[in-house]
Amino acid sequence: MPAATAVVLLAAGRGVRMKSARPKVLHEAAGRALVDHVVAAARTFLAGRPGSRLVVVAGAGRDELVPHLARTAPEALVAVQDPPRGTGDAVRVALSALGDAARVVVLAGDVPLLTAASLARLDEALDAGAGIAVLTALLPDAGAYGRVVRDAAGRFARIVEAKDASPEVRALGEINSGIYAFDRELLERELPRLTDANAQKEYYLTDVLGFAVGDGAAVAALPVDDPAEVLGVNSRLELAEVDALLRLRAARAAMAAGATLIRPETITLDEGVTFGSDVVVEPFVSVTGASSVGAGTRIGQGCVIHASTIGANVSVRPYCVLEKAAVGDGAVVGPFARLREGTDLGEGVHVGNFVETKKARLEKGAKANHLTYLGDCRIGERTNVGAGVITCNYDGYGKHFTDIGAGVFIGSDVQLVAPVAVGDGALVGAGSTITKDVPADALATSRVPQKTIEGGGARYRERKTAAKAAGK
Ligand code: UD1
Ligand code: MG
Repeated sequence: MPAATAVVLLAAGRGVRMKSARPKVLHEAAGRALVDHVVAAARTFLAGRPGSRLVVVAGAGRDELVPHLARTAPEALVAVQDPPRGTGDAVRVALSALGDAARVVVLAGDVPLLTAASLARLDEALDAGAGIAVLTALLPDAGAYGRVVRDAAGRFARIVEAKDASPEVRALGEINSGIYAFDRELLERELPRLTDANAQKEYYLTDVLGFAVGDGAAVAALPVDDPAEVLGVNSRLELAEVDALLRLRAARAAMAAGATLIRPETITLDEGVTFGSDVVVEPFVSVTGASSVGAGTRIGQGCVIHASTIGANVSVRPYCVLEKAAVGDGAVVGPFARLREGTDLGEGVHVGNFVETKKARLEKGAKANHLTYLGDCRIGERTNVGAGVITCNYDGYGKHFTDIGAGVFIGSDVQLVAPVAVGDGALVGAGSTITKDVPADALATSRVPQKTIEGGGARYRERKTAAKAAGK
């Protein structure tokens, strides 16, 4: 049976290098807060472990962080560290929340690419007798990371922070990821020995590893296969780098699911967007939030899709914007359509260019192909909405509903002044302003009668031409 394990997620640092009013770990990469990525890895790792728990160490930004966690990680216990006095001090404040965990895994809230598979490797090292295991990485430019120092035999000796390192140590390419598994007893024995006698005047968790080696404990330093996994976010530049890597991961997952991404480097996907097989996504598309795209669907160039559900065999033509919309199987949307919140398109619906919809349900086979606003309405099955039709849903004070039945024909340039209803099979003539309900199968028009003046056009031209010649 696996050992009872607590994950301690450090998120109390100030993140000064971000130059931000927001706590660093709430900055987003691939559509999710950094801390949420780490929580996801922790959850996968902890699943099925007896007595497992997640403790988040929050500090200065906790007014924002704690409510955020209540939404995204309600199982997390919060320990408060204020002021932040270093990673060692942060782990110390979490000790009282560890329950009867025998192992403590420490994660940093700013390392979002970490996978549960790498955490499992730490665990295996402890199973094999190590007192502490740490993930490391070999980087071409080790920058501000702590350096891993090994002895002549290649065994782990200690970690030295970049700011405290001699030029020789700074030249080492193996870095500390800040991700560890500790035998709890060993951790609790060594923590009280930390001091802040260093360049940053902080209690460094990293010093625990050196002390443990001095006491004869085995410390396993395990380089990860993909150094990207342990990239930490300390600046906006690093945030952009991590964001790009996470999105690349999402693109790979989409392709693995059978989607063709054309020029994937131009496509922006959030983690967790799902794709059916034989989806085609053209360049410069963004699909974010909790969105899904069904099998056989094609998303045209330049579409921006957020938190939307798109069915199978849909064609979303270029340059459409969808937000919190649902699109049924076989529908055709765009080009240049805007589907806003609460749009619900049924099977085979057509919504064409320059059509805006909001809280609009278009039932099976309905069509609105050109230059139309449909808000707060239902459009019944097979109904055809002509060019330039507008549901006048707002009277300056409140929103009102338009209900249009099945098999209706709404001519071009009709205004439907809500609240109003048009019954099944009715016909509304082009150019009408409809203010009263139209019963089923009725014909409604509200046009001014047409006046035709014979020869009037010719006379108008003569008058204008003569005036121009006279210089008027
Ligand atoms: C830390 C490591 C460094 C490692 C790097 C990896 C130490 C002393 N150094 O440096 O060896 O290479 O991570 O990314 O551990 N935090 C707190 N309370 C504090 C200080 C920090 O909760 O008092 C949290 C931060 O919010 C952050 C994490 O701990 O999530 C790491 O802190 P950070 O200041 O980013 O440490 P680094 O300088 O990156
Ligand atoms: Mg960091």
